[in-house]
Amino acid sequence: MAKPRTNSRSSRSHERSLRSESSSGASNTSRVADLLIDLRRSGGEALHRQIEASIRDGIRTGRLRVGTPLPPSRALAADLGVSRGVVVEAYQQLVAEGYLTSRAGGYTEVAIDQEPVATSASVAEPVRAPLIDFSYGRSDVTHFPRTVWLRSIRKILTEAPNELFLYPSRRGTPELRQALADYLNRVRGASVDPDQVVIVNGYAQGIALIISVLAAAGARRLAVEDPSSDDDARPMALAAGLEVVGVPVGEEGILVDALDRTDADAIVLTPSHQWPTGGVLSAESRAAVLRWASRRGAVVIEDDYDAEYRYDRAPIGAIQGLAPDQVIYAGSASKTLAPGLRMGWLVVPRTLVDAVAEAKITADRGSPTLDQLVFADFLARGEFDRHLRRMRPVYRRRRDVLVAALREKAPALRPAGIAAGLHLVTWLPSDVDESAVVTAAAARGVAVHGVNPYRLSGSCLGGLIFGYSSLSERSIVDGVALIADALANVRT
Ligand SMILES: Cc1ncc(COP(=O)(O)O)c(C=O)c1O
Repeated sequence: MAKPRTNSRSSRSHERSLRSESSSGASNTSRVADLLIDLRRSGGEALHRQIEASIRDGIRTGRLRVGTPLPPSRALAADLGVSRGVVVEAYQQLVAEGYLTSRAGGYTEVAIDQEPVATSASVAEPVRAPLIDFSYGRSDVTHFPRTVWLRSIRKILTEAPNELFLYPSRRGTPELRQALADYLNRVRGASVDPDQVVIVNGYAQGIALIISVLAAAGARRLAVEDPSSDDDARPMALAAGLEVVGVPVGEEGILVDALDRTDADAIVLTPSHQWPTGGVLSAESRAAVLRWASRRGAVVIEDDYDAEYRYDRAPIGAIQGLAPDQVIYAGSASKTLAPGLRMGWLVVPRTLVDAVAEAKITADRGSPTLDQLVFADFLARGEFDRHLRRMRPVYRRRRDVLVAALREKAPALRPAGIAAGLHLVTWLPSDVDESAVVTAAAARGVAVHGVNPYRLSGSCLGGLIFGYSSLSERSIVDGVALIADALANVRT
């Protein structure tokens, strides 16, 4: 049995990487011809299955070696004369089987080498589908407040005029922009006028619109945290022709001294809870970032990630409140309610808000009005606050269980960051290879992500990202025990 190098990335990450791969900037992908795909359109076998079989065969025979990047799905689809969805489906299936993996930068590469010849000295560990999945970034949607959401839907459908069903208004409905401005000013210490709010389909669309507007205005270089998420700002900036530079992250977010060396026109930050390492940007660093932005005329993009979840302290207000003319604020309901809502919001300085609203309308003619009004009603009734008050103890308990299990069963794993959010990073001992632990965990039925794939500067100290928010307490304890076993196995 061939042994996957890593097959633990979440399906969310797979899907998103696959979606963004064509714009990833991955340069030396294998040529379409190298895949030796010969489609038979008359035999009745589905096209995606034929593509899968050719790639699987190439890997099994050693023609496609581990680490070989595959062509972007758009390019392969064009070359084969099939729709892109067919190629994406084939890639996704092979990712699920462990033959391919989605890499930082949003492209897909071969994850395993040709089947090793079994010898008594090398017995490959069996790999199973994950039984316990520590993939990050998942709100527990089983707690979605269906009843109160339904009440808002009923109210809106009963009371809203027929114009509701016409094309949406430019920046989003006035009701939602007002409700969000009230919420952000009250809870996040922001400084928001409803006119500055643009409703978007989640952070992913928001950051894409911001990048397109900044690029059109002449921006050349985008700074991002290193490590940071690899499936939104980074591939989108590359696709827009921007250079992406990493700013190293320490225990309290980015090291601001390194900012001056970036020559960047904008920076994307997760100051409330750095993704993934979990630090909070200190007040001094926030002020230093704003001084840097003033000096350069740069824009700060504040992804207010995980700000709602603090388990042992009060949250720090948004940077936007300190400098509304320099900061673009981005919020999302994905971690608080459900990612399937695709509900996000931007607060944009007055100088840029028209351009961002224009980009939004050009992109998709506006977010669905009905959903906006329902969310506005939900916010205005205080249901959002109530839902967060209900969820905080649930997540906090799971985090506490995780931390206790790590302390007891895997004390070599050193937790990072503050008690907040929906995931926890633990650093590995310096002599332990991160990908070996991830693979050994997968062989024990546990999916966990490493930190190194999210670095721009190459691998250094390894770490594991434990998404705990949608696991039962029992699964968390069992999963940690299995990871402790994997760690012990890798270290011997
Ligand atoms: C760093 C970061 N910010 C924001 C989000 C929310 O994205 P969206 O609103 O598009 O679901 C995510 C999602 O995983 C994320 O990883």
